Amino acid sequence: MIDIPSPESTAQAFEDRYGRRPDGVWSAPGRVNLIGEHTDYNDGLVFPFAIERRTWAAMGRREDRTLTVHSGAMPEPAQASLDELGPERFDGWSAYVFGVVWAMEQRGVDLSGRTGFDIMLASDVPLGAGLSSSAAIECAVAIALNDEWELGLTRRELIYICQLAENGAVGAPTGNMDQTASLMGEAGHGVLIDVRAETADPVALHFADEGLELLVIDTRVHHEHATGGYGARRKSCEDGAAAMGVASLRDLTEEDLPRAVEVLDDETFRRVKHVVTENARVARTAEVVANEGPRAIGDLLVASHASMRDDFEISVPELDLAVETALANGAVGSRMTGGGFGGAAIALIDADRAAEVEAAIEAAFADAGFTAPIIFVVNPSAGAHRDL
Ligand code: GLA
Repeated sequence: MIDIPSPESTAQAFEDRYGRRPDGVWSAPGRVNLIGEHTDYNDGLVFPFAIERRTWAAMGRREDRTLTVHSGAMPEPAQASLDELGPERFDGWSAYVFGVVWAMEQRGVDLSGRTGFDIMLASDVPLGAGLSSSAAIECAVAIALNDEWELGLTRRELIYICQLAENGAVGAPTGNMDQTASLMGEAGHGVLIDVRAETADPVALHFADEGLELLVIDTRVHHEHATGGYGARRKSCEDGAAAMGVASLRDLTEEDLPRAVEVLDDETFRRVKHVVTENARVARTAEVVANEGPRAIGDLLVASHASMRDDFEISVPELDLAVETALANGAVGSRMTGGGFGGAAIALIDADRAAEVEAAIEAAFADAGFTAPIIFVVNPSAGAHRDL
């Protein structure tokens, strides 16, 4: 990725590499999840927001059927052909780009008679921090192609296309929270997602009005969704729903938990309990933030973290320490965010205490012998759009 990305610098990088101006520059943001973890693939409720860190895609059409993508960090562009698209042909990170084209075809876009494109990518979304750098690439490419090929696809359809790219081409069995936040985000707002109802509604967060800031604490413990724990959690949820005789865990409420504890083994019960209680916390958080303001959501964030730590078991010591230290230093609320097994925690704090909280977390990590975390503020920001 190039040094200081912006729409202009990405257009310039395109011109340097390809010897012509791009047709345009499009961008899509990463996200943090305020609350609602591992609920998306259970048809549930999620409440993330788009952040100011984005991926820019400068795109120019070609005369032939070739697709190329380049990013400043890679010595050579990756290539594919519109005549030979398939997940088995995509290599590494280029799957995020070519996977979107493949997913468009899978969902009915006719690629015959179309010409290919060149893309230059630039991003300032940190990789592997749980901030959805992958969704940012997919969504930037998807909106660029929607314009360039004049497809007229709705944002809702683009969500499903980008999710299919992630699931089918990249091979990560995720839900669609990340793509929904990236495509539907609005400045100053969270996106209240109901996966089953296929809705994504903006809810004003008022952090700045209340003197609050949201800190991201990137633990630098790497997570990998394509393998391991994420898929295992997803399977437990599916097993739990089947044993309870429902289509998905969305069909259960807290009133079903006494029956669930009888029917399910201990581990599956705790997985189910997390998802059921987390859905309730998301609904409550959206209500509380609208009626009482963001200072009143702290306990819900803390309860969400405890549920992930104790019942869903996706936290790690670094995330727990970040949360505990933030709370001990006056945070309104704090929790791990994203898929888990590493990545980032968030802390909602008084803006004038940011330096203090950061220093306390850094000191706690040093005392514990953990790698120094990377800590920064994020603001609810605009979703994917055309820049140039
Ligand atoms: C990752 C996935 C999302 C979601 C979260 C957990 O970020 O990409 O779809 O499942 O984990 O809430």
